[in-house]
Amino acid sequence: MLSKRIQNLSQSATLSLNAKVNELIAKGKDIIAFAAGEPDIDTPDFIKEACIKALKEGKTKYTPSGGILPLRELLSNSINARKRAEYSPSQLTITAGAKMGLFLVFSAILNEGDEVIIPSPYWVTYPEQVKLLGALPVFVDLPEMSGFELIPELILEKITERTKAIVINSPCNPTGAIYSKGSIEKLAEICLSRKIFIISDECYEELYFDGNVPFSPISISKELREITFLVSAFSKSFSMTGWRIGYVASPNSFAKAIENLNAQSISNATSFAQYGALEALKNPLSADFLSSLREIFQKRRDVAFQELSKIGLSVNKPAGAFYILANFRRHLVSLSEEELLNKLLDFGVACVPGSPFGARGLFRLSFCLSEDRIKEGIRRISKAIESISLE
Ligand SMILES: Cc1ncc(COP(=O)(O)O)c(C=O)c1O
Repeated sequence: MLSKRIQNLSQSATLSLNAKVNELIAKGKDIIAFAAGEPDIDTPDFIKEACIKALKEGKTKYTPSGGILPLRELLSNSINARKRAEYSPSQLTITAGAKMGLFLVFSAILNEGDEVIIPSPYWVTYPEQVKLLGALPVFVDLPEMSGFELIPELILEKITERTKAIVINSPCNPTGAIYSKGSIEKLAEICLSRKIFIISDECYEELYFDGNVPFSPISISKELREITFLVSAFSKSFSMTGWRIGYVASPNSFAKAIENLNAQSISNATSFAQYGALEALKNPLSADFLSSLREIFQKRRDVAFQELSKIGLSVNKPAGAFYILANFRRHLVSLSEEELLNKLLDFGVACVPGSPFGARGLFRLSFCLSEDRIKEGIRRISKAIESISLE
């Protein structure tokens, strides 16, 4: 018999749709998939080569549980420089992707019955990890009309004596919103005065458009860094999703516990993959890679936004990440989300239904495919919608 906690664990909606789409493609169906949560661009060669070199040099054994020292050192320097912070290498734990980093943080702070505030729409994994630890996710709906901006007043309304933490994710998956500096500062004040942790998931930090660099609560003050866990990864920025390299920057008093948890769960992030990440931080070519990534995704964002608007679907223009939420609510009068998903698949296009993100009726499209494929995919969506209207 499965444990009660595991019985309640949901399947990952995005990963299961990807599996379904791949199955259809393998059977020969032509599908334009807007489902992927990873860049379609390969990991840069200079990163791969550093990893191969590490393998050849025999860097194939356990590493310190917090990660190899040069990586922790360079990473703390990089975070400190980019976000005006003052982390020491010992505050950084290298882990198996941001996902594992989040799980370590939740495990380190949550007790049974604690509440965690999650602005909605949200990334599917947050509530599942919170529930797995016997705590309760508390959702705060951010209005579509306000571009899904963080509204601290709405957060305040949901705070109780059981509130332990709030998760923020800017740039956000699935909304593409980047929270304003003002909103984050207001939230920071609330969290400081109520002694609530902030978990800041910044794994899309390098994917911002129009020069709108995301603001992090860790940039505010030392006091804020003592209540904030910064979680991020190399996954999205350097197209390294399969490498499983992420990290947590913890408050001083929690750093050792996070490292111990990493040690007791995975021992260490994969040794040679850490050398690839080290190269990503060291190599001057990284700056060019990141700016070309932003340029490519900004163009795709523009195409997706224009084309979806043209076919009459209401959308907010994403400020970052690589997702756009399209509002299909008026097409869901006679159809369930599942039926609409199947209808879209019949027309050769896959998008992720919004319910698992807390956004019923809004479907998530990721723009991890070429501009031509984006245009063709949206043309197919338009045909699918027409067919519903004709039914
Ligand atoms: C918001 C968010 N956080 C964390 C992750 C997980 O990142 P990683 O692949 O580094 O575990 C994802 C991946 O989709 C994500 O969208």
